Amino acid sequence: MPGKGKRWMLAKHFDGFPKESDMRLEEFDIPELKEGEILMEAEYISVDPYMRPYSAKAPLNTLMIGQQVAKVIESRNADFPVGTWALPLTGWTTHSVSDGKNLMKAPPLPEEIPRSYTIGSLGMTGVTAYFGLLDVSDPKPGETVLVSGAAGAVGNVVGQIAKIKGCRVIGSAGSEEKCEYLKELGFDEVFNYKTTPNLDAKLKELAPDGIDVYFDNVGGEFAATAILNMKIGGRISCCGSISGYNLKEKQLLPSLFGVMVTNHLKMQGFNVMQYMTRWAEAVTQLSKWINEGKLKVREHRTDGFENMFKAFTDLFTGANTGKAIVKV
Ligand SMILES: NC(=O)c1ccc[n+]([C@@H]2O[C@H](COP(=O)([O-])OP(=O)(O)OC[C@H]3O[C@@H](n4cnc5c(N)ncnc54)[C@H](OP(=O)(O)O)[C@@H]3O)[C@@H](O)[C@H]2O)c1
Repeated sequence: MPGKGKRWMLAKHFDGFPKESDMRLEEFDIPELKEGEILMEAEYISVDPYMRPYSAKAPLNTLMIGQQVAKVIESRNADFPVGTWALPLTGWTTHSVSDGKNLMKAPPLPEEIPRSYTIGSLGMTGVTAYFGLLDVSDPKPGETVLVSGAAGAVGNVVGQIAKIKGCRVIGSAGSEEKCEYLKELGFDEVFNYKTTPNLDAKLKELAPDGIDVYFDNVGGEFAATAILNMKIGGRISCCGSISGYNLKEKQLLPSLFGVMVTNHLKMQGFNVMQYMTRWAEAVTQLSKWINEGKLKVREHRTDGFENMFKAFTDLFTGANTGKAIVKV
């Protein structure tokens, strides 16, 4: 029996920007396995913006939620022998026990593909980009696609897929370095929203005929301005609204109902978990694009389990470019 593990517990619900005192890093005794159970050790743990709003519903003094890629190090379950790689949704913990039910195995990868991709571009955020763009908004060649949060885990994949599909792609991000990165990825137009004094004028300059598809990662005033610049028949993939996650008081948006009607817009929220039964379809296509060099992957790696909280809050200061992961 391996002895002790470490885990991050939610001590207080976040109020405004998360504080380290809202969480507790502690040791725990790894339990003896019962028949049918396995013990896994985490290699990489994902940090994601959704953890902020979703943790508000989690009971206190439970594990902080999240996904990891982990190796089976002890097994009493023939379906998961020692050495199997899995993608448990066990949260911020170095070790976890599972009975194997509803436990996803990591997809087999060619040797040159890092395993961490299974919690990023070949995992939750890649699948979000794939279905959130293609299934929800169905972009056509020649159409103009705007992506906010474009240098992040979901956004950069959305922009690259839109390019593969023959679209003209505009990306917004929060620094000049991020904009350079987006140009390297082949985005047609990029801008730093933090140094753009008039977003409406910027969108009219970059998309004078209007936007066909808006992939929204940020919500708030940015989303409202983007929607007011959409073409007739435009589609909006509502992926997330990170600009509001740490606000103490929820803000109502300016009314957008008029333009929804006059421009016949389709706006749809989605959650990647809706696509569980089609997960392999996305991962197969994303792997193919990576192998062909059409989809580039960038990760923002933090080393050390004790640095998980910092890696999480970095998401809200924009420190990450690409998928934020923690190497345990
Ligand atoms: N619907 C789903 O199933 C689903 C699945 C996964 C993710 N999501 C959502 O998708 C969005 C992106 O997630 P991700 O995992 O790809 O994260 P990410 O983009 O890799 O990281 C977050 C980024 O958001 C930007 N940001 C932070 N605070 C902001 C603010 N106040 N206003 C505007 N931008 C801000 C920062 O980039 P800048 O430097 O550019 O500001 C930061 O790097 C989030 O809203 C998330 O909740 C939804």
